[in-house]
Amino acid sequence: MCGIVGYIGPRDATPIVLNGLKRLEYRGYDSAGLAVIQDGKIEVRRDAGKLSRLTELLNDSPIHGTPGVGHTRWATHGAPSARNAHPHLGATGRVVVVHNGIVENFLDLRDELTAEGVEFNSDTDTEVIVHLVEHHLAAGLDLTEAARRTFGEIAGAHGIVLMSADEPDKIVCARIGNAGGVVVGLGEGENFIASDIPAILEHTRRVIFLESHQMAVVTRSEVRVQTLDGARVATKVNNIAWDAAAAEKGEYRHFMQKEIHEQVRSLTETLAGRVDFTDGNINLPELHMTPEMAGNIHKIIITACGTAAYAGMVGKLLIESITRIPCQMEIASEFRYSDPILDKHSVVLAISQSGETADTLAAMEEGRRKGALLWSIVNAVGSQAMRVADGSISMQTGPEIGVASTKAFTAPLVDQYMLAIMLAHLRGTLSDKTRRQLVADLRLIPDVVGRALRREAEVEKVAWALKDVRDCLYLGRGINMPIAYEGALKLKEISYVHAEGYPAGEMKHGPIALIDENMPVVCIAPKDPWHDKMISQIQQAKARGGTVIAVATEGDELVSSMADHVLWVPECPWMLSPVVTVIPLQLLAYHIAVVRGLDVDQPRNLAKSVTVE
Ligand code: AGP
Repeated sequence: MCGIVGYIGPRDATPIVLNGLKRLEYRGYDSAGLAVIQDGKIEVRRDAGKLSRLTELLNDSPIHGTPGVGHTRWATHGAPSARNAHPHLGATGRVVVVHNGIVENFLDLRDELTAEGVEFNSDTDTEVIVHLVEHHLAAGLDLTEAARRTFGEIAGAHGIVLMSADEPDKIVCARIGNAGGVVVGLGEGENFIASDIPAILEHTRRVIFLESHQMAVVTRSEVRVQTLDGARVATKVNNIAWDAAAAEKGEYRHFMQKEIHEQVRSLTETLAGRVDFTDGNINLPELHMTPEMAGNIHKIIITACGTAAYAGMVGKLLIESITRIPCQMEIASEFRYSDPILDKHSVVLAISQSGETADTLAAMEEGRRKGALLWSIVNAVGSQAMRVADGSISMQTGPEIGVASTKAFTAPLVDQYMLAIMLAHLRGTLSDKTRRQLVADLRLIPDVVGRALRREAEVEKVAWALKDVRDCLYLGRGINMPIAYEGALKLKEISYVHAEGYPAGEMKHGPIALIDENMPVVCIAPKDPWHDKMISQIQQAKARGGTVIAVATEGDELVSSMADHVLWVPECPWMLSPVVTVIPLQLLAYHIAVVRGLDVDQPRNLAKSVTVE
């Protein structure tokens, strides 16, 4: 995740922007930079490393002026560099951009701009934005119109802030899709822009939240919000009553809700820098894998706890389906005492958000003891599970504060999908055609997750209908069977409802006796290879008087005609479908807990990281 800060007013922008970036400290950095307009020119200071490095740069070579913008990049994979740090200048040096999100069509745009003679100075997707704006300025448009034209040309989800030395009386910003917020803070004769409220809370509590596909032209005295096609938008000024800690939740009531909605961005981040969409390649350098090493792997044991274990259950199916390497998921608290049969041809793959879960670390030690290769998929940068592994894939979701894990569940689904493609490619067991298709399918993720999230109001209605449930069954099959376990765990841990995930095909061997009119049954029935089996499952539940809540693919009239409630998800290739089918179940558990007035972010008896046995 990236942090963005902007200021326009009579004061020196440098300290205001720098302090604003510091307020986003809880996010972590791998690079930071700022730009101000000083004596009619844009001055930039930026470098890899923490914010303290930027402070050193400014002490060594001060810049003062207004307006100004600043940016921090999240801890991402690979060595970040000064040349890739934001802000990015265009060729004329008269326009500068800071950006949050991914320009999904940047390769095509870069080719077009290069063909026009534009020289690029970074490896980032962001740089195409400022060159496009300059292209339109050269055609005679002003900054507002040049920006608007550019916003219409870039694909993906974005938070963008632009300024020009030729029009120093304004800053132009925009929010497109769900790459994080863009907030405009209203001062007296000055105004502020930020990706998160903490960055500007010391200056103002009056803010305007930009909605998706809105842009704002911000001057010292005015904020003109409009749609991307120019229609004026009536703005709602919000008064932020929260304290700084609360403000980290942004426009959300709880960290869990914020983190559920951050999944477009966190999944974009976990993909960033690892997927070559042009050649259909996956690059996970952290694993230091060679074709020979990949060819020597005879089995993979995934080990984790709780939500991470359910992510591993999906990974098991993905890895076996794509690589044909025998793979199983073992609950860490059992695996550590199971005297597992491992050798140098075995991989133990641990999954952990915190990277500090005692059972998972102990399972890794058992793997080490038995001579297996140790890998991990971890969110907390620098944690034990990241350090002790032979290779570790960072989830890149940013801090997950809510005890109930959400974005740290979907990220490892995609990470294991990428890992499987890379392994099969190295082993030569995947045709180019299949590999390219599997990689191309990853492009769908930000859009389908964003569309699933936009149905939150519908899920909230179902939560009201279920607010008094005492028991609940979650049923799934195949790749979505683990989603039944995960959906049930979400409800259990924050709503305190007894919920049970179960393989749908197992119901007829006993548990179906549980179903009556008092037993709601969540059936995960998207258009995947097990869809028809789930249809009969829904029929069996209905025949026994159960209330059926179906997770179904948009337009599936058959399921809609049978279920009492439907939680719609967009069509998605079946291997990636768990990434979207889990979204309404995260939201359902969240809203039931809210309706019941429970402490969503700190549920009773639980801790964010279980560092004891
Ligand atoms: C999930 O919502 C829970 N908070 C819990 O099951 C968690 O996933 C488990 O404790 C593992 O934690 P880790 O990912 O930090 O290892």
